[in-house]
Amino acid sequence: MGKFAIISIAIAALSVLLGERVLNISKRHLIFREVGNKHLPNCVALKNIEHGSEDITIVGDGLAFISGGLKFPGFPSSGEPGKIYTLDLKDPNLKPVELRMPRNFDLESFNPHGISVYTDPSDGTVYLFVVNHPQFGSQIEIFKYVADGSSLVHIKTIKHELLHSVNDIVAVGVESFYATNDHYFNNNLLKTLEIVLLMPWTNVVFYSPKEVKVVSDGYHFANGINMSPDQRYIYVANILNHSVNVLEKKKDNTLTPIKSMPLGSLCDNVEVDPETGDLWLGCHINSKKLFLFDPKDPPGSEVIRIQNILSDEPVVTQVYTDDGNVLMGSSVATVYGGKLLIGTVFHKALCCDLK
Ligand SMILES: *[C@@H]1O[C@H](CO)[C@@H](O)[C@H](O)[C@H]1NC(C)=O
Ligand SMILES: *[C@@H]1O[C@H](CO)[C@@H](O)[C@H](O)[C@H]1NC(C)=O
Repeated sequence: MGKFAIISIAIAALSVLLGERVLNISKRHLIFREVGNKHLPNCVALKNIEHGSEDITIVGDGLAFISGGLKFPGFPSSGEPGKIYTLDLKDPNLKPVELRMPRNFDLESFNPHGISVYTDPSDGTVYLFVVNHPQFGSQIEIFKYVADGSSLVHIKTIKHELLHSVNDIVAVGVESFYATNDHYFNNNLLKTLEIVLLMPWTNVVFYSPKEVKVVSDGYHFANGINMSPDQRYIYVANILNHSVNVLEKKKDNTLTPIKSMPLGSLCDNVEVDPETGDLWLGCHINSKKLFLFDPKDPPGSEVIRIQNILSDEPVVTQVYTDDGNVLMGSSVATVYGGKLLIGTVFHKALCCDLK
């Protein structure tokens, strides 16, 4: 073969490979996916929440905690510091209350992401764990919630080299938790590159004051994390694999993979109904529309419920969808008393009737 023929073949082979790569990236990010609207009755937007409600978690008596104002590279942002709200779902007014932050806390750089609540069984104290990204760094804040006065008391900040790109956490003790890292690299340029490299390099870390260790890895952007009501299983959203993974929690806090459930969507946070054990997921329809935000072609929203996840026949139901004209970029969904509360990365929060 002549030199030219070899070069032509090499170029052709490279183009095929490159084309395949682009196709693989498109598939991972579901960049061609569109959905129609599947709405629910009596939806109302929560008052005063316009710049995100990325994570929401409800404690037993219908009190929801909401993290708002996340700044994340590529997403629109108000420029204001992040906020934590509570919402009493038993109150028909559905008015979120902005919690007063402690004076000894750097509020200017507060950038809250995933949250988790732990109630101390010995004295009923409610602790709020918050993933915080000041200057796009990564650390965990533990607060004590003071209902009387609607405020937070700062207990401590946790930083650790294994907690380098935390997305979400689930608290399992007064000072211990599982956390997901959504990137492998720390550098912002390499982080962006990771989105197209598509390597399954992210992990789940267990943290306690005595021990910090990686307990599960091999995720394509590990995202939301939560626990079954009996505290035996951990659920991890593997967003770019379009799946949610079930892991069994062992006595030494390690995790054993049980199964991976394909969902066909980009699911973000996982909430668990304490009564039924059902999983509720706020999902993204198409990550291109989310990351390359265009108000004329907004990212949509999708809520998925999984029933009987541990059985041989789990039931996956698409409960709500919107093309982005009502609600953009849903990242979390949770239920209480027949109501569905949906949060978003940088938009509003919606509360609907389930029937
Ligand atoms: C595309 O994805 C398939 C299936 O995951 C994989 O086997 C293949 O190597 C990938 N190709 C490229 C060029 O990344
Ligand atoms: C990714 O999804 C596939 C298809 O659902 C599944 O077989 C695989 O176990 C998943 N991988 C991980 C690491 O979750």
